[in-house]
Amino acid sequence: MLSLKRILLIVDGPGVMTHTAPLVTSLLRQGVAVRVALTESARLLVGDYFTTMLSGTPLVRFPDIPEKILDDSDAVLAAPVSEKLAKTLCEDNWQAAWKRVKGPVVIVPAFLPQEDGADIRKTLSSHGGGAVQWLMADGETTDMGSLGLLDVASPARCLEAAMTALTKRDFAGKRVLITAGPTAEDFDPVRFVTNRSTGRMGVALARMAAWRGADVTIVHGPMSWPVPPHGGIHACPVRNAQAMYDAVMACVAEMDLAILCAAVADFTPIEYSNVKIKKQKNTDGVFSLKMKRTPDILDSIGHATGRHPFLVGFAAESDHVQAYAQAKLESKNCDMLCANDVTKPGSGFAVGTNQVTVFKRDGSVVELPQMSKEDVARRILDIALEGMGRRAAN
Ligand code: CTP
Repeated sequence: MLSLKRILLIVDGPGVMTHTAPLVTSLLRQGVAVRVALTESARLLVGDYFTTMLSGTPLVRFPDIPEKILDDSDAVLAAPVSEKLAKTLCEDNWQAAWKRVKGPVVIVPAFLPQEDGADIRKTLSSHGGGAVQWLMADGETTDMGSLGLLDVASPARCLEAAMTALTKRDFAGKRVLITAGPTAEDFDPVRFVTNRSTGRMGVALARMAAWRGADVTIVHGPMSWPVPPHGGIHACPVRNAQAMYDAVMACVAEMDLAILCAAVADFTPIEYSNVKIKKQKNTDGVFSLKMKRTPDILDSIGHATGRHPFLVGFAAESDHVQAYAQAKLESKNCDMLCANDVTKPGSGFAVGTNQVTVFKRDGSVVELPQMSKEDVARRILDIALEGMGRRAAN
């Protein structure tokens, strides 16, 4: 869990109908205290109790924001605001107010699809680099009902920007590679061999690293867990183990940290049938599939010659967790290995929590308690960052 953070959310116009409820609830779910300031035009559309009930804190009427609220805020998110208000928020009198805020001010302008946003881009970009940041629509359109369409960043993108603004940037400048999810090994046009991984742990790692300022590449198999829409996360979807190997090997040399979290299939069918295999052909009622080993990605990085990133492996085990994990750390030549017992309740596939034990190269072991996968990801990144620092110092 983040240590308690406070955000001031400024909302203007019809965006209060589409963005405010999903944003406030998702920020609260992340443990962030939200104070909402509505402009007159937003207040016309919803009753004053709407945001009070949502956020659990009294409504602030924009522009009368008490200094105490500015002083207490770790970041400001103006989402969405009209083009006119976006420009106003960049003016000198507001710049003075923003100096009171502990962190950045993220402005999310909404404009009509027929406008190209060039004017607002110009205004906002002249304020880049300081406390004011901005998040433009990236091909997203929000349907405001009878009011029509507006181009504005989605609530999910606003959330990612807000969490990034609230998080210490101790991974800024670091390039992080993550593998996630299962792989799917096809043997005819409709059938394949896969496993129970949903990709949730890998996505949590990618997200937490991006919030901390890392430039993240996530190479993932067919996951049931979506990659968050964060500008710092580059998704590289692949289907099978060989494609994951190729995608990882193409970029791993540029990385500072690689966390191999994917449940890569260890075997793939030897033959692929271009037509669907008919069951009637197997007259004895038995179907046999001959499979061969896939490349081991973690092992290949660990034993590659030349520079390689700080290397973190995962081990999903059902028995002898400590012995198998330690053996994998050694044999795959990792800097760190995160093991979990998939038979334990609340640890493993398709659940929101995990219980991981981290085995380090120096022989030390960190047993983490059962936590949400996002909190586990935070702790793994803390331990990896410390290890990277130590490796750089040696
Ligand atoms: N891994 C990999 N490529 C593979 C298989 C595994 O990169 N072809 C990585 C996983 O992403 C994980 C680690 O190796 O970081 C351990 O994976 P795991 O499936 O637990 O172990 P295996 O080496 O496959 O051994 P076993 O299945 O015998 O336990």
